Amino acid sequence: MAAFARVSGSVGLITLQNPPVNALSAAVRQGIVDSVQRALREPEVKCVVICGQNGIFCGGADIREFSGPMSGPPLIPMIHSIEVAAKPVVAAIEGSALGGGLEIALGCHYRIAHSKTRLGLPEVTLGLLPAAGGSQRLPRLIGVPAALDLITTGRHVTAAEALQLGMVDQVTDRNVTDVAVKFALSVVGKPLDARRISMHSCPHSPDLDELFERTMQHVRQRARGAIAPVACVQAVRAAATLPYAQGMEKERELMATLFTSGQARALQYCFFAQRAIGRWSMPSGARWDTSKPRPVHKTAVIGLGTMGRGIAVTLAQAGFPVIAVENHEKQLMAAKQAISGMLERGAKRRGVTPVLNKITYSRDIQSVANADLVIEAVFEDMALKEKVFQQLSAICKPGALLCTNTSGLNIDHLASQVRNPELVVGMHFFAPAHVMKLLEVVYGPRSSSEALATAMAVGKKIGKVSVAVGNCQGFVGNRMLEHYVEQALFLLEEGATPELVDQALEEFGFAMGVFRMSDLSGLDIGWRVRKGKGLAVPDPTTGQTARVQQGRRYSPVADLICEQGRFGQKTGQGWYQYNTPGSRVGKPDPWVHNFLKDYRARHGLVARRIDHQEVLERCLYSMINEGFRILEDGIAAGPEDIDVIYVFGYSWPRHRGGPMFYAHMVGLPKVLERLEHYHQAHPDVPSLQPCNLLRKLVANGSPPIQKWKEVMKKINSRL
Ligand code: NAI
Repeated sequence: MAAFARVSGSVGLITLQNPPVNALSAAVRQGIVDSVQRALREPEVKCVVICGQNGIFCGGADIREFSGPMSGPPLIPMIHSIEVAAKPVVAAIEGSALGGGLEIALGCHYRIAHSKTRLGLPEVTLGLLPAAGGSQRLPRLIGVPAALDLITTGRHVTAAEALQLGMVDQVTDRNVTDVAVKFALSVVGKPLDARRISMHSCPHSPDLDELFERTMQHVRQRARGAIAPVACVQAVRAAATLPYAQGMEKERELMATLFTSGQARALQYCFFAQRAIGRWSMPSGARWDTSKPRPVHKTAVIGLGTMGRGIAVTLAQAGFPVIAVENHEKQLMAAKQAISGMLERGAKRRGVTPVLNKITYSRDIQSVANADLVIEAVFEDMALKEKVFQQLSAICKPGALLCTNTSGLNIDHLASQVRNPELVVGMHFFAPAHVMKLLEVVYGPRSSSEALATAMAVGKKIGKVSVAVGNCQGFVGNRMLEHYVEQALFLLEEGATPELVDQALEEFGFAMGVFRMSDLSGLDIGWRVRKGKGLAVPDPTTGQTARVQQGRRYSPVADLICEQGRFGQKTGQGWYQYNTPGSRVGKPDPWVHNFLKDYRARHGLVARRIDHQEVLERCLYSMINEGFRILEDGIAAGPEDIDVIYVFGYSWPRHRGGPMFYAHMVGLPKVLERLEHYHQAHPDVPSLQPCNLLRKLVANGSPPIQKWKEVMKKINSRL
């Protein structure tokens, strides 16, 4: 809704009312249309101010309306009627003006913002473009380069930046509506044509063609196959080169294509999935809304290696005091320096003071006695972690939450080492921990809902996308990844090269293919894990690592590469070759090609032609199959949890929605059929055998992803 009131004698005040963000639902749009008409009709009203209730101007469109038929007045004529109004209209912007909200403000003759406001056109992040004139008005107001930046990234700007760019006319620290009302009265009677943005042409930019060409190239590269950013560039180009009416026509055409694309559906699914994961539940029935987190004031991190440093930085930046413990003197000194550097660089980027004094360093684990939450990040070694947990149990105050950053060790076993196993959970960060958004919060069978609620609350406070998952080897992300990597190695045995596999995956939209990625993270990490599991061990009789291990096909290719000391970028050689150790640019390596040829010859394997489609189907469907097993086992509560983990932790292309959403888009019968096909061809690869849940979903008519949970419940209740 929108309320109308006459204030200060002759100001028509229109207040958008739709909590929590005054989204532009059909009712709100109708309210605006009615209020504007009334304001223009009533002779006592000389000028108009538009504001939002509860400190927020407007968060934009009501995304839930996208899936149904359009009802209520459309935005474009509504904004047009504001712009052509014969009485001055002032937007009083507070909190946020996003998407359609900002487009309304751009239709007003003046914009006044509170200093704490954020403004932006984030439509591109939902697979769309600002199609209520935003792509045509913003470049006319702030120029092509700045508009391209904001529209193609969806980036929000502060009020200060908006003022500098010319998006708003004034910024105030006072009550913005009061300021806008006074201002509106002061401009009554002044000519309005110059204030109507659609009547301007874009400010002149030199070398426009070159600018668009450069931007398009950059945007395509960054978009990894997403079509919305490209359409945004085309829309801004129309603003720069065509009259307003024709530009609007182009905006409409581009939007029509985007709106019905699978990518917009995927991105909107991601938007809702990200919110859904906050409403976690446990198999015990405990839920986010019935479980209370414990207060956390002081935190501690044990082990200041790669992960511990990033975790300490993240906690400190969110305002937590951190006791950082490292038992190795040299490591402690190195960690102090590295952490200070990270804090200083982070503060510089955000324009704030570095919080160096939030972290206290120590070599003595006793110093964590007062912490409310401890995160252990020592080596991935169960015996060592057991010892650390026993120490923590003896040292920490009652009620302290004991967390581990293990990437896959059994949380329940660690819980068995302490006095209060219900207070043990996994907090699985991703490297680099101060940058990566994902946090898997792992509960064991004995973890209390209070412990999970606390870890989830801390995850939120430190700005992580936190997903609650059950305890199993590799949790959700790494458990699925194992199958993806395994297929990639099998493909090498069968005739592919690392470049071919990576190219297929990068064209699909991954930032890096599987081999490029392992060169970056270091091949030795996986090698150590495989050795720990009793794999990667040469057969004493042949001296070679067997191609069948623990009753299933095993590829020793990665182990053999590691045996050559080829650990990836850090050694200058891995699946690719690098000019120098540490260099980031890899070239195809003839040594690897020859090695693969010899390997195949040794094992009597005949290389065959492998195409991109097979790479995608084998790597992705085996991983998706494991996703269904994870759902079946109750390790993830729903497909959204898996998808959010993959989008935020594993660079899955967001415009493809996550692996489970992708399966839904491809069609479950097709995924099932291809898995059956590949399993028939490779019966010694269990991960290609379609799992029960996938079969049952197909047998139940392949319901849409939003209904999977219902089918899962029905299937479980029949068991
Ligand atoms: P790291 O080897 O870089 O660092 C471990 C640190 O712990 C070392 O500085 C070591 O001196 C210290 N340490 C060992 N015992 C200690 C003790 N008793 N008290 C205090 N400090 C002690 O290891 P990284 O890579 O940071 O991994 C730590 C944990 O995080 C492991 O469980 C690993 O599986 C997990 N993890 C690692 C990821 C990665 O990409 N490196 C990603 C996600 C989780």
